[in-house]
This record gives sequence, C-alpha cells and structure tokens, in this order.
Amino acid sequence: MGVNIRGRNYLKLLDYTTEEIRYLLDLSRDFKRMKRAGTPHPYLAGKQIVLLFEKTSTRTRCAFEVAGRDLGMGVTYLDPGSSQMGRKESIADTARVLGRMYDGIEYRGYDQKIVETLAEYAGVPVWNGLTDQFHPTQMLADLLTIEEKFGALKGLHLTYMGDARNNMGNSLMVACAKMGIHFTACAPKALFPAEELVETAREIGRKNGCRICLTEDIEEGAGNADVIYTDIWVSMGEPEEVWETRIKLLKPYQVNGEIMKLAKPQAIFMHCLPSFHDTNTTIGAEIANRFQLREMEVSDEVFESEQSVVFDEAENRMHTIKAVLYATLH
Ligand code: CP
Ligand code: NVA
Repeated sequence: MGVNIRGRNYLKLLDYTTEEIRYLLDLSRDFKRMKRAGTPHPYLAGKQIVLLFEKTSTRTRCAFEVAGRDLGMGVTYLDPGSSQMGRKESIADTARVLGRMYDGIEYRGYDQKIVETLAEYAGVPVWNGLTDQFHPTQMLADLLTIEEKFGALKGLHLTYMGDARNNMGNSLMVACAKMGIHFTACAPKALFPAEELVETAREIGRKNGCRICLTEDIEEGAGNADVIYTDIWVSMGEPEEVWETRIKLLKPYQVNGEIMKLAKPQAIFMHCLPSFHDTNTTIGAEIANRFQLREMEVSDEVFESEQSVVFDEAENRMHTIKAVLYATLH
C-alpha cells in the first residue's frame, strides 16, 4: 500500500514509520531536483501557513518561508514575543484560533508538550520546528545529506559527540534507529540520553538491524564512524551558568583533527548549525575571553575541511521541509 500522510502532524520521528520517512526523503529529492532545474511547483497555491517561533532561528524559519512560498502558499511569521501565546493566551486557545485561519502551524519553542498540545487542539497539521527534546525537520535534512554522500543509509555508523541528551542527540538516536544506521552517543555519562528513550531506540533499532551504543570512550566512539556529528554544548533556553560545567565536561569531546583521524578515511563531519568553531560571534568571543577557548564543539580546521558537509545539510533543510509541507497538506 502507498504511503499517505495527508493531514498528519510532524512532531517527532518516533511517530513515523521507516516507510513514511523513506517516502519523505524520496519526495525531498524530487523537490530538490525541481528547485535546481528552476521548475515551478506551486502545488499548494491558495493555502496559508503560520510559523510560531518562541526561540530564534535562521535555517528553520527561512526554510519554512521559502518552502511555503515555492509551494505557492501565504506564510505568516510570528517572532518570539510577538504573539499572545503563553502570557495572555493558553496554548489550547492559540491553537484553536490559528487553526481557524491557517492550513498548518509550525512551532519552535520549549517543551515537547507544547507542540503536542498545539497539535491536539489545532485541527490542522502542526510541524515541530525544534523543541527542547526533539528537532525532527533537521533529521530529514541530515538523512538526505548522508544518503547523498554515501548512496545509502542502512549499515552506516554515525557517532554523535557532545551533549547527547539534547534535542539533537535524542533525535539522531531515533532517526538512526528508524533507518538502520548504527548509532553511538560519545559523551560523558552525565550527558547520556534518558534511559527510557535509549531503550525505545534500541527496540526500534533491533527491528531495523542496527545497534544503539553509549560510550564515554572517545577512541571507541569515533573509531569506525562514517559520520561524526556534533552540536553546540549549551542549547537555546539553557541558563548562562551552565557554560562553565559544560565546557569542563565536553572539552575532551571537541571534534578536531585527532577525532576525525579515528573515524573512517571517507568519514564526513556534520553539524545542524549554528556552530562555535571560531570567535566570530558574540558568544564565541565571550567564551574565548572567559575560558581561553577559541573553538568549542568543533575545531575551525574540521568545520572548514573537505569532510565537512554542514552547508549541504543547511540547504537540505529547505527541500525536506518542503516535502513535509506538501505531504501533509496536499
Ligand atoms: N539547525 C537549525 O535549526 O538552525 P536554526 O536555529 O537557525 O533554525
Ligand atoms: N541543540 C541546539 C540545536 C539548534 C539547532 C539548540 O537547541 O539550541
């Protein structure tokens, strides 16, 4: 039977089957080809979507805006602080209002429960543009990028170095389990993903022929990897004060030339971005001042190397989000 996800929410990959993810990746490739060829594809003309952001964004916002417009839709952006949600209006009420005006709602913000509540009350598809726990639109872009580089997904080894219990660590573990990619979280124990989620991912992985491993040991973690992935050490919404302990915990896990040498020779480096790989940002410069650390989760050398595919991932955010919009709204 063909895959049909029309009318569905896109809140986390745990809600999607391997076949449904495969369908979205194939659709993304089609949209990428059309975009590259300059073939117009306004298949959702006349529809309207709203982008509700409680945290800042470059890629996710722009990807939703361009994808929505390429599909012929009207797009409204609500920036952090400019809607009534939270302070003056409950999530359920906001969902019911937006659901009366729009054909779909994107949400970026804090707890996963917020996006789940929006979806419960909206009556139209809701898409998760990042919560504290999950970042599912990023996953499609990353899977597409890996597939473009290696020609397949199943059987590859992906190692995630760093804060393995954040939205990226959680999401990559689930994405790998769903697609049969061996996943290793290489992190200090204090930053391992929650046991319950690890168990769930292991169960999914068993069905798809891949292992989910956790290790503190860098040689064990990075050795044999096809993909080395990292993310920032302090995520949006976390307090300033955590920087000091986080740096102490994660400095040994910085992805640098030594780590890349442990991985396979053809290994690629991935990062969802934004990244602190130099001091050309306000926070990067502040950290350099306070902790004498000029590069954080990845060295500038690795970030700028031939192995780095970070800007392919960024471009693929748009093609994959377009696939999600089309598949759920057409
Ligand atoms: N990767 C990602 O979600 O980037 P933004 O925070 O810029 O949207
Ligand atoms: N873990 C990061 C991801 C940013 C795309 C954050 O939540 O800030």
